[in-house]
Amino acid sequence: MSSAAKILLIEDDPGIVVSLRRVLAEEGYEVLVETRGDTGLARARDRSLDAVITDMRLPGLGGLDLIRELHDAKPRLPIILITGHGTTETAIEATKLGAYDYMLKPLELPEFIGLVGKAVTSSRLMTEPVEVGEHGAARNALVGNSRVMQSIYKEIGRVASKPVNVLIRGETGTGKELIARALYQHSDRAKAPFIAINCAAIPETLLESELFGHERGAYTGAENRRIGRFEQADHGTIFLDEIGDMTPGTQIKLMRVLQERCFQRLGGKETIPTDVRVLAATNRDLEAAIQHKQFREDLYYRLSVVVIQLPPLRQRKEDVPELVKYFLRKYAAELGVADPSIHAEAVAFLQTENWPGNVRELENVVRKVLLLAQGYTINMDHVRAALARVATPSNAAHQSLREQVDELLAAAQRGELNDAHARLLTAAEREIFSRAIELAHGNQAKAARWLGVSRLTMREKLHQFGIHPAQDHPET
Ligand SMILES: Nc1ncnc2c1ncn2[C@@H]1O[C@H](COP(=O)(O)OP(=O)(O)OP(=O)(O)O)[C@@H](O)[C@H]1O
Ligand SMILES: [Mg+2]
Repeated sequence: MSSAAKILLIEDDPGIVVSLRRVLAEEGYEVLVETRGDTGLARARDRSLDAVITDMRLPGLGGLDLIRELHDAKPRLPIILITGHGTTETAIEATKLGAYDYMLKPLELPEFIGLVGKAVTSSRLMTEPVEVGEHGAARNALVGNSRVMQSIYKEIGRVASKPVNVLIRGETGTGKELIARALYQHSDRAKAPFIAINCAAIPETLLESELFGHERGAYTGAENRRIGRFEQADHGTIFLDEIGDMTPGTQIKLMRVLQERCFQRLGGKETIPTDVRVLAATNRDLEAAIQHKQFREDLYYRLSVVVIQLPPLRQRKEDVPELVKYFLRKYAAELGVADPSIHAEAVAFLQTENWPGNVRELENVVRKVLLLAQGYTINMDHVRAALARVATPSNAAHQSLREQVDELLAAAQRGELNDAHARLLTAAEREIFSRAIELAHGNQAKAARWLGVSRLTMREKLHQFGIHPAQDHPET
């Protein structure tokens, strides 16, 4: 993992400070505390922070003024407002002023932790630079010098600063999110917020409310007004990931925003102007979806003023060696391995793979290989073992643990492998984590609580097993 995320907590109630500091530290965050609004603002201004959590009523400077000034000074820094009962209106005001989100006291801790996690991720999406076509020390780089990738880098340079919508297409794991971030970071909106929304992970009504907000009573459960992302991210960039999964009802509303640059909150009459650049991504065949009337053709044309089509890894195998080197370096730093090396034939072998999961799958394999080699030069055996382990989960998805035990033991008896124990533990662990996240509807905080592990462990394991939880609810 990269360095611990830094969070500034501005709160004057010593009891809350003690408990939140502990909870956040347990999640692996570095926590700074200020007990006054004015000193909090000063500290937030000159610190490299990942998120700020602030109380509403504070000595020196109130929460709302603090948010106004801080958001002006650092528009990409997520600010979460926590406030006592009965002040929903001010919480809404805070969102309008640019707060990332708010929560009412008393805080529901799992929800609070989930929200802080989202804010930190969002902050890193904005601030961790994505290097294009070179990869000095960056944790995030678009690597690969194949012809196709070079023309993509050129395209990024050409369109990043133009006020046009861009549609990014490509199979899973080809780097669509990285491209979206690169486009944002090289745009003239790079100082304003970048908000990523996964359209596939949020049910229809909640997605509409997330995007456009709602008035009180707009639907059952809408107890208060909520400000949507299009209102909040005015002058910024919205990244609509998995746009192909957006329902027709929401597509109409999105169409209207793109066409008229204004919208209404759900259940509202007021027309609200907005100036937002939309980047969208999908791995779906949108042309087929249009034919089946699942995707609006007019919306498709609005979104695809510029299309960036990412090739699957199997069509640019010449990039594999460079990617392998890049991931080795990246994970060696993370796992504390000095100077990792790999045999040329092992790299060549990786180059012959088909990579249905594309760069993400290659990345997972390289990470595993690095662990298996335990500091020695990586050879074919390590690579084969890592590939087998990655393959196990997909076979395993429909197999009971008992069946896997039998199968692996049979293979061991035939002399085909000698690490059945390690493989089974991995398989069992994978089953535990993927089931928990499934039953928790993608809510990582909840799943972690059930399993009695920290959120950090949860994230690590999900990453290790290549599990990408679909979030059933927006968690906000
Ligand atoms: N060209 C590249 N160079 C280096 N890393 C890459 C490249 N492309 C993708 N990656 C890495 O592969 C992983 C998957 O990339 P990303 O999430 O951008 O893919 P995606 O197309 O959005 O996938 P999905 O369709 O599953 O959402 C990330 O860890 C990303 O950093
Ligand atoms: Mg993606």
